[in-house]
Amino acid sequence: MGRQRKRVLAGDGVAHPRKDEKLPAPHRKEKKKKADLGKVFINISIGLCILSLIWFFYALYMRSSLAKRVITPHPAPRALDANSSSAQVSPERFWGSYRPQVYFGMKTRSPRSVVTGLMWLRQFSGMDVNLRHTCEQGDHLQSYGWQMHDALSFGVQEIRDTDFTLTTEFVKRLGGEHGGDWTWRITGKQHSSAPHAPVISLMFYVATDTQGTLQAHVEDKNRMSTVTGSSEELGNFKITFGKPTAGETASAKYASYNFLQTVTQGLEKLTDIVKNSLSMRFVFSPPSGEKRPYVAVDTLKPPNHQQKPLDTRKESDFVVHQVTVQTPFQIEVLFESGSFRDRPNQLVGSVMTEELEKRKVAFDQKFEKIFGLHQKGFSPAQVKFSKGALSNMLGGLGYFYGQSVVQSPFNEYPLLYPEGALFTAVPSRSFFPRGFLWDEGFHQVLLSKWDTQVTQETIAHWFDLINIEGWIPREQILGDEARSKVPAEFVIQHNENANPPTFFLPLQELVERLDTQPDSRLSQSTLAFLQRLYPRLQTWFEWYNTTQAGPLPNSYRWRGRDKDTNLFLNPKTLTSGLDDYPRASHPSADERHVDLHCWMALASGVMANVARLLGEPHEGFERTHRILSNNDLLSELHWSEQLHAFSDYGNHTQAVSLQQEKVYVPPGQPRNQFPVARLVRAVRRAPKLQYVNALGYVSLFPFLLRILTPDSPRLEHVLRDMRDPDRLWTPYGLRSLSHADPLYMKHNTEHDPPYWRGAVWINMNYLAVRALHYYGNAEGPYQERAAAIYQELRTNIINNVYRQYVDTGYIWEQYNDGTGRGQGSHPFTGWSALTVLMMAEQY
Ligand SMILES: *[C@@H]1O[C@H](CO)[C@@H](O)[C@H](O)[C@H]1NC(C)=O
Ligand SMILES: *[C@@H]1O[C@H](CO)[C@@H](O)[C@H](O)[C@H]1NC(C)=O
Ligand SMILES: *[C@@H]1O[C@H](CO)[C@@H](O)[C@H](O)[C@H]1NC(C)=O
Repeated sequence: MGRQRKRVLAGDGVAHPRKDEKLPAPHRKEKKKKADLGKVFINISIGLCILSLIWFFYALYMRSSLAKRVITPHPAPRALDANSSSAQVSPERFWGSYRPQVYFGMKTRSPRSVVTGLMWLRQFSGMDVNLRHTCEQGDHLQSYGWQMHDALSFGVQEIRDTDFTLTTEFVKRLGGEHGGDWTWRITGKQHSSAPHAPVISLMFYVATDTQGTLQAHVEDKNRMSTVTGSSEELGNFKITFGKPTAGETASAKYASYNFLQTVTQGLEKLTDIVKNSLSMRFVFSPPSGEKRPYVAVDTLKPPNHQQKPLDTRKESDFVVHQVTVQTPFQIEVLFESGSFRDRPNQLVGSVMTEELEKRKVAFDQKFEKIFGLHQKGFSPAQVKFSKGALSNMLGGLGYFYGQSVVQSPFNEYPLLYPEGALFTAVPSRSFFPRGFLWDEGFHQVLLSKWDTQVTQETIAHWFDLINIEGWIPREQILGDEARSKVPAEFVIQHNENANPPTFFLPLQELVERLDTQPDSRLSQSTLAFLQRLYPRLQTWFEWYNTTQAGPLPNSYRWRGRDKDTNLFLNPKTLTSGLDDYPRASHPSADERHVDLHCWMALASGVMANVARLLGEPHEGFERTHRILSNNDLLSELHWSEQLHAFSDYGNHTQAVSLQQEKVYVPPGQPRNQFPVARLVRAVRRAPKLQYVNALGYVSLFPFLLRILTPDSPRLEHVLRDMRDPDRLWTPYGLRSLSHADPLYMKHNTEHDPPYWRGAVWINMNYLAVRALHYYGNAEGPYQERAAAIYQELRTNIINNVYRQYVDTGYIWEQYNDGTGRGQGSHPFTGWSALTVLMMAEQY
């Protein structure tokens, strides 16, 4: 676009002076003529020079202003008020477990929150020090996750470590002007299989993040009993570390205490600081037991000031209270806000127990009221599992603040996006503890059933990150803590790149709910929310509709495919969300993608509905929606007669394989002196424009997003392919790519195992079950068939996700299509938690 503009300007620049040229008068003398002609030439040259200079600076200006567009915020008023997350406006949601990346920790919904958290280690385990802090798959915990969490006032988490279980609970209590109080209760129990009661060190910590101060108060024997502090958002506060007991009514237990008081240059360094401070010079000597040296944070060691690296960030206070105690134990930590003056009692002991019990009962009632699983006949264990799935998504809500690193084609180097806040759920607390655009739409389909306000606030946060072009970076890596978990090559976000606009799924639901109950108070708030969102939503839609347009009218194409075609069996399409799902073998501008076509059909339909509700012009969206859902046009663009399925189109050949690169070794020379031969792609037959003919999730999209009309004969083919065990059907859900596809379970490179090439993914299976439910209830020739497959597929998915959870302790990113085994990252209570909605049959 920029280059085109330049060319137009250049044309103008040259044309202009010619108009002013004065042609020499015919009757003058030759000499004069020559002089005049010379003058004219000089004038023309000067004119040209000036104009090219003007053009040059204009082009420079255009280029720099185009370069800035990527980091220019959308001009519409924000969807969220400036202080909407503050303690004053939203006290009940101020504190929360908004640090999904740690096993247990809390912070406030503010940019530079004081953070609190827990690390622990098992003493005398005879191995290396296994310090637990951030959720790591490498810790090999047997399981962990929130069992109950209401995203508002309390949570209960169970963590099964080697031979003991920690239960981490919190309860909040409102009061004062700074978000009120909270209490944690950590309960430790040995496993029944453990030969003796393990000794555990719990390390409770508090850290500021560049603002605020902390003071540790140390009693005798190294015991840090309280931390007082203050910060802008919290005012004054006091944190009290209770003594361990063997249970709520039991008296204090023997314990050893240690503390660390230091500073940090960033929250991502907390684990290392603690690790580096550990020593073995303390002795654990219970009254009736062996005296043994144990691992502890050491107050004598100076904070690692000497090795101050190139880090120039401001130092923040960091204090750690370590308590070492044998199981069973129970310890409480109490946070009290200074502005909460007339609290009736302290939230500890039996008061805490009572509050917890009240909330657990309320949670169970609300869960049953919304999802009705007990009533549907699910066993108590299955209900517990689904409560865990929902709770871990709620407990996975995070509040992040910082800047993305972005780049547009007009930037030579990446730029920093404006600072912004993001309140969002995360796909996986261990592996993906940050916001992902296309995951979030799925998350909100579940969360909107539980708490509409959470859904509105998260969507509003995401849309307040949109730029003037209508682009939202698809992976949100905000702040140092988040960045420390991401490989450098994935940090930069490119503004040509889309991601499926899944937010239209929860939006569709909000709109449908408005239609059924137009006058409720909830509807008023939803309307107000949509009103504020609308200008941004509209730009977002237009951004997709223009930047991802395809080669033919009403066709669409994902941008951002891998360009280095020789290095991949099939160049990936990360932007589509389905990474290595086979697309045209040779990426080109001739491609059209059926999944994106269907996303746009959904998007335009929801836009039309929202616009109509708000009294905005909706005809354009309606027209686009009509065209994109026209089954004839869809078939014309995407139906492959050869495959009898919907398909992408592009420059494609199936005759590709990965082969060892040929490395020429001159005769007589040792082989090992030459580079190792890589696998590269060999193309045996030249590509040509044709349907890609890969059968899998992408070919199901017109069905998944319910674009196909219930009487469409294509539906018969779709249902047949789905139910065919040689193609998509497995006892664990639909596999992502047909068993018969040439790329089924193929590596994309030596080091890139298959991802969307066979495994069962729950988000797509959720859409399939939802679509079967729809077609099973819609009059048509395939109604009964759809209804029958619905029952089977739903049962298969629920049973397998549940069975894997019981067997492995986790909900997984994907499931093996041959064995049903959970695989990939875990816990994955992002979209895999949609299993709850399939159990509840809420679509
Ligand atoms: C937000 O809070 C700050 C500090 O309390 C205040 O200065 C500002 O006016 C508030 N803004 C709005 C829009 O309420
Ligand atoms: C979407 O793009 C198409 C083709 O460029 C255009 O005809 C249509 O009007 C657009 N739809 C909307 C709602 O802007
Ligand atoms: C398809 O790709 C090949 C290899 O890059 C190229 O030579 C050919 O021109 C392309 N065909 C079309 C129609 O774009």
